[in-house]
Amino acid sequence: MKERIEGIVESATKVINESSSLKELDQFRVEYLGKKGKITSILKSMGDLTPEEKKEVGRLANEGKNKIETLIESKKDSLKKEEYSQKLLLEKIDVTEPGKCKSLGAIHPITLTIDEISSIFSGMGYSIATGPEIETVFNNFDALNAEENHPARAETDTFYITEDKLLRTQTSTVQIRTLMSEKPPIKIISPGRCFRSDTPDATHSPMFHQIEGMCIDEGISMSDLKGSLDYFAKELFGNSVKTKFRAHHFPFTEPSAEMDMSCFKCHGDGCNVCKGSGWIEILGCGMIHPNVLKVGDVDTEKYTGFAFGMGIERIAMLKYGIEDIRLFYENDVNFLKQFK
Ligand code: DAH
Repeated sequence: MKERIEGIVESATKVINESSSLKELDQFRVEYLGKKGKITSILKSMGDLTPEEKKEVGRLANEGKNKIETLIESKKDSLKKEEYSQKLLLEKIDVTEPGKCKSLGAIHPITLTIDEISSIFSGMGYSIATGPEIETVFNNFDALNAEENHPARAETDTFYITEDKLLRTQTSTVQIRTLMSEKPPIKIISPGRCFRSDTPDATHSPMFHQIEGMCIDEGISMSDLKGSLDYFAKELFGNSVKTKFRAHHFPFTEPSAEMDMSCFKCHGDGCNVCKGSGWIEILGCGMIHPNVLKVGDVDTEKYTGFAFGMGIERIAMLKYGIEDIRLFYENDVNFLKQFK
């Protein structure tokens, strides 16, 4: 009997020591100490023994039982500790590790260019005016003195919505809106989207942006126009650029001109930016035609003014060395993130 008890304690010690989970340990408790367990069955089988033997076996069995219980308890403790440190290890957080940064967006180069141009003109006292992209034929052509058969009026060039509504082809429409709502002196610029029925290529897009400018006051002359636009070019491209004015034709200005700027890259020697000529065309301008001023009931004996308009994509392409206008509209993150 004694050997049996010792055998049971020995095998219990072995399995308990080797057990690797609390669940397993519970099973061993049942197997050894439960109602039908190995130790209990010894106590139950003592019927045939003498009282002395019973006493002895009872003592040994109880000792064995206590031993197994102690073993189970201490194994339980160590398994619990192990489980806890395992849990801690899994849930470990390195508070010194740098956080995941959200990548910030960049300002679109068209917006950047509009902002730069606007800030130069606001420094000269211009305010910003806006107008809708869907316009009347009157504001886009008639009021701007465009001849009845002006080629830009053709349906092949302009997106018409109805007979008298269209997608504006130029921001010059805001000149008309401002003339009809404000009294001179007026100094405004107006950035915005324009639309023309052009096939997209490296330098054309059916949707593009312009900035229009208009300055009306007593005694405004061509020299004010030249001085203001020369200052603008120097602010935007650097003090070393020179400007020159070439006679041109626009229906809404008389006289009209285009302003060229000496190449900011080669300074006039000729390079890929200026296509070898040393000069870059920047904008259209002129003295506002009296017919246009009259749309706003401006007293043309008292007031004169100049106006100008430029393509924003063209300026941005020059300034940032962008070779294809389509890049502005493709939302390619690799292209856009250069402007951070
Ligand atoms: N609206 C003209 C265009 O789209 C640009 C322009 C030229 C605007 C001369 C003006 C100006 O105000 O005076 O080509």
